[in-house]
Amino acid sequence: MSSTTTPVVDIHTHMYPPEYVKLLESRSEIPLIRRFAGAKDPRYIILPAEAESLDKIAQGESANLPGRPVTSHYSLLTQKIHFMDTHKIDISVISLANPWLDFVASDEAGKTAEDVNHEFEAMCGEYPGRLFFFATLPLTAPEDVLLAHVDFVKGLKHCRGVILGTSGLGKGLDDPALIPVFKAIATAGLVIFLHPHYGLPSEVWGPRATAEYGHVLPLALGFPLETTIAVARMYLAGVFDQVPDLRMLLAHSGGTLPFLAGRIESCIVHDGHLVREGKVTPERRTVWQVLKEQIYLDAVIYNEVGLKAAIDASGVDRLMFGTDHPFFPPLQSDEQGEWESMTWNKNAVEKALGSNNEGVKQVMGGNAAKILRLTEDA
Ligand code: URA
Ligand code: ZN
Repeated sequence: MSSTTTPVVDIHTHMYPPEYVKLLESRSEIPLIRRFAGAKDPRYIILPAEAESLDKIAQGESANLPGRPVTSHYSLLTQKIHFMDTHKIDISVISLANPWLDFVASDEAGKTAEDVNHEFEAMCGEYPGRLFFFATLPLTAPEDVLLAHVDFVKGLKHCRGVILGTSGLGKGLDDPALIPVFKAIATAGLVIFLHPHYGLPSEVWGPRATAEYGHVLPLALGFPLETTIAVARMYLAGVFDQVPDLRMLLAHSGGTLPFLAGRIESCIVHDGHLVREGKVTPERRTVWQVLKEQIYLDAVIYNEVGLKAAIDASGVDRLMFGTDHPFFPPLQSDEQGEWESMTWNKNAVEKALGSNNEGVKQVMGGNAAKILRLTEDA
């Protein structure tokens, strides 16, 4: 990459570093890593929707193998670099994959977060200029440990933000107890990468889902709805006004937020309770304004129809390309070759922006380089 060209940047790309893998291997409840008779690779079982198959197998019933095979793509750094080189990705901003440290006991969370974030910092140091990371927070730790950890990751050379799930301290992201944490993150100049994990309750998918529909419903619909609901709750609780410097990057192009923002607005202005409480004033910042002022969206939506809505909602200067590697490997071609997560998402950017070549470059990496300060001396 010459200093005058715009880099291609992948801001949605995960790693399970070795220390974290060991932690999952030691567990007997999800999330966990387990070997199954007859299967070549051990399997990561991380999603609540995967627990049902795991229970069936434990009771000796037949079921599809739960989770996904643990391949080198999940934890080998050389494999990440191979993926980047194969797809001409100059810079990746790596993050721990879900469910992060959400399940770790309170008294162990601080130390575990320190170990994991040190591992991420060391990985980035091995490839100067090519790797940065979103750190992981010990959300189950006492508040003083959590706040001290924000300070700690701010000091790590390659850290550019924090990855967060939607559970927060256990009560969601509209929990008033999170305000000091959001303020500390904003003051540290760190971007929050908001990523789903929990989806929706399994009953929503119906009795046929686990046996017949694979992971399609929880991943394609549960994940984006979870993100949409989490951000709508933050908006309704006034979090964005209370922490005006907060900057959030939403996974999967904001779930369905760009598509549903109009409906959220309509429901707000027609809600008698909110109107009576004086919450619907002319000064109120609308969801549309917050989308353009405090929110960034990734471009991991795989098609130009959704991507155009995201660009319309937040602006072409707030979208950032991503792949979600190592999830969604190609199943019918060589895993060491091209992945659809790259080609589909790149095509979507090119089709959504048409002849706007400058816009394509911005979304493919220019925005990320600027917003996340990726071309500063690393
Ligand atoms: N499945 C997951 O569990 N996480 C991702 O990021 C993508 C797919
Ligand atoms: Zn992801």
